[in-house]
Amino acid sequence: MTTVQIFNGPNLNRLGTREPGIYGTTTYPDLVSLCRETASRVGLTVQVRQTNAEHELLEWLHQAADAGADVVLNAAAWTHTSVAVADACAQLRGRLVEVHISNVYAREAFRHHSYVSPHASAIIVGCGVDGYRLALEHLAGSPQNR
Ligand code: DQA
Repeated sequence: MTTVQIFNGPNLNRLGTREPGIYGTTTYPDLVSLCRETASRVGLTVQVRQTNAEHELLEWLHQAADAGADVVLNAAAWTHTSVAVADACAQLRGRLVEVHISNVYAREAFRHHSYVSPHASAIIVGCGVDGYRLALEHLAGSPQNR
């Protein structure tokens, strides 16, 4: 079984203390546990990673492309800024679920544009950290979801 890759971009390691009014009080380690528990319940294996270095995310996306893996991506601020992340997402051969904890469309205008969305097979926005659970349940669903 191919492992679903879950990639988190900059500042998401600060979950729990970072702007809790927007992102909630779940910590990053709690989020990793939530992803692993959900994956095991729905019959998936996952690798969950976070980075504050853009080149590292690009390398992970390249590896996922080569493996044909499904990806859950919260590119955080790079969502709104990075052509390089978009170009890496374009190379993916598996499904790509874009997740944002907050409702980016109810926030500043600069968060309304995503370089990731054109490459995503599904987008989950504003469901809090529950969005990761929903993404994994979606990916575990029938091949018709592909
Ligand atoms: C975010 C939304 C982005 O606009 C922001 O830069 C983040 C987190 C979210 O999960 O809501 O860092 O991707």
